[in-house]
Amino acid sequence: MKNLSKVSCLWHFSLVFVCIWSGCLAAAAQAPVPDSPSIEAQAHAMVAKLTLEQKIELLGGIDNMFTRAIPAIGLPRFKMSDASVGVRTWGPTTAYASGVSLAATWDPGMARKIGEALGHDARARNVNFLLGPGVNIARSPLCGRNFEYLSEDPFLNATMVVPYVEGLQSQGVIATVKHYDLNNQEYNRHNASSDVDERTMREIYLPSFEAAVIKGHADAVMDSYNQVNGVHSTQNDFLNLKVLKGEWGFQGILMSDWDATYDGVAAVNNGLDLEMPSPKFMNARNLLPAVKNGEVKESTIDEHLVRIFRTELRYGFTTRPQFDPTDSTYSVADRAVALQEALESITLLKNEGHLLPLDAAKVKSIAIIGPNVYPAVTGGGGSSQAHPFEPVSILTGIANLLGPDVHVFWSAAMPDDPEQKNAVAHADAVVVAVGFDAKTEREGSDRTFTLPPGQDALVEEAAAANPHTIVILTGGVGMDTSRWLDKVPVLLHAYYPGQEGGTAVAQILFGQHDPEGKLPVSFDRSWDEDPSSKWYYGDPKDNTVLHTIGEDGQPKDYTIEHIHYGDKLMVGYRYWTTTGKHPLYPFGFGLSYTTFSFSNLQAPAEAASGATVAVGFDVTNTGSVAGAEVAQLYVSDPSAKVDRPERELKGFAKVRLAPGETQHVTLSLDARAFSYWDEPAHKWTIDPGKFVIRVGDSSENTPLERNLELH
Ligand code: BGC
Repeated sequence: MKNLSKVSCLWHFSLVFVCIWSGCLAAAAQAPVPDSPSIEAQAHAMVAKLTLEQKIELLGGIDNMFTRAIPAIGLPRFKMSDASVGVRTWGPTTAYASGVSLAATWDPGMARKIGEALGHDARARNVNFLLGPGVNIARSPLCGRNFEYLSEDPFLNATMVVPYVEGLQSQGVIATVKHYDLNNQEYNRHNASSDVDERTMREIYLPSFEAAVIKGHADAVMDSYNQVNGVHSTQNDFLNLKVLKGEWGFQGILMSDWDATYDGVAAVNNGLDLEMPSPKFMNARNLLPAVKNGEVKESTIDEHLVRIFRTELRYGFTTRPQFDPTDSTYSVADRAVALQEALESITLLKNEGHLLPLDAAKVKSIAIIGPNVYPAVTGGGGSSQAHPFEPVSILTGIANLLGPDVHVFWSAAMPDDPEQKNAVAHADAVVVAVGFDAKTEREGSDRTFTLPPGQDALVEEAAAANPHTIVILTGGVGMDTSRWLDKVPVLLHAYYPGQEGGTAVAQILFGQHDPEGKLPVSFDRSWDEDPSSKWYYGDPKDNTVLHTIGEDGQPKDYTIEHIHYGDKLMVGYRYWTTTGKHPLYPFGFGLSYTTFSFSNLQAPAEAASGATVAVGFDVTNTGSVAGAEVAQLYVSDPSAKVDRPERELKGFAKVRLAPGETQHVTLSLDARAFSYWDEPAHKWTIDPGKFVIRVGDSSENTPLERNLELH
């Protein structure tokens, strides 16, 4: 009896323990609550308990990935992690496809799934802040971090970032949208100033952040390394105070990129709430005397802390465990999400003679060669680089799909041994994967437009040996294919397809999944033709010297390279459609194994300026397999008082259709879809008059067209 009650007592205790541990407290998603008078009061009360020294201490991070704790007021430290392609800082993780892949899906639902999956992965690792998504515009193919970002188009970015942020934050994890702003190249990133006019900023480089903050309610933003118009982002009054916190009403936390703070007083006075990863500048040595001599007001420091506390309170970080034991650290569900993202993103650019899909029943031998077929190339390099548990390479993905009866020949290069060469020549198909990887395309430096050494020759040799040569590219955005493109029948852009990339490539090659990715960038023929190429580097004669005080308190001078954004609005397809020239493959383009048609355009012939305009049309799958089409709506404004890009994306919808099926799509164009930034008036403006609405499957192919008069 005694024993029995001991057992039952123990059982009772363990039940309570298990309950606390495994979800009774941590359960479901725990999205942040909205701000309220009670949260504001708590945040202010916390600030009121702090000495000036403690307040200053809280303006900087600690241990590379944490906010600081102040035990005296019961404030623990909170944990961060990089970022966009996986919760990567704390060991192996699920590695999703790159940001540019997500944009290539053109599927906001997919962005929501990725956000939610990252939220689970973060909670399983006790992470409070995810240092992503990265949403900088892919202005040039050379930028070493394009793969982390989304696309060349502000509307596509803005549309994808909102569900991403919502999905992530719905799990109780703060999204940190980065890198604010104009961090469009990696070389010289600490010493470069992106010099740009306000209209270009408003129309091209700000909208992804604006949407993330205003529509997605992102609760953290990360300032970039570079300067904007001669002022470091971390102390940039225009970006931080006027636009982000002023016009957009951002109430969350503005943190610096890691070591992107250069002047503590200027940063604290110009909007930076948190210096990461440590207070090298926003520290007592710099700020105590500044408060004493009136350069910095204590109330300004208080305001930074209220933002930090308000956000942490809204997420309940001080009252609930962030670690959620109901989330798996190794997650089979997340593997499925990673596979789906890769399948939706991989983009078929050329399929001469309908070589694809290959018929698995007919292929008896296959040669899989090149540096990027094995091991798996899941992502680019730098702080986003996630280390997956079990990445699937292109080699293993294809071999798994084909099974044991097919002969697979693998080589990283073209084999020297003539017998093995024969293996390439006599294979039923040759798959060659070339492009970039985590060593050749990475944070902190830019990459070449040409492929890494030896890769062009490899493709040429493979194509010469076997006409059934299928080329797969890995890399952020466009790259040079000119030496061999006309010699190969198939080109597939895999971007960085994440840990399930090999399975996705195999399923697409063998027709188990109809390719549905669409280019989120224009794919250039050559770097010289790229609209940014003439403006990408600064002219040394324009260099200026910035006199600052270093973290050691001694004077420190920086030579600043001024990158003049003379390409202005002419980024990517805006340039190509305005000049009437054509890139190799246009923005929005991607082939499928089926065909689609567009018909029945319904749009008003006139409307009031500022009214929302509904545009309807039908999309039909006219081929013989199920597939997905991305219907894209472009607006032109030929009667505007200012020069405008010839076409601008203002709506899109991804439509899944069975063979023969038709779906009616309706897209809404709000006032912003017709507006441009009126520089003298400093506001969005619509010039009444003629507009043209075009609908199609890329920025160049728009079979439906209708004039619209706004008055
Ligand atoms: C990167 C950020 C990243 C941070 C922390 C920096 O080098 O630019 O994107 O979040 O490191 O790892």
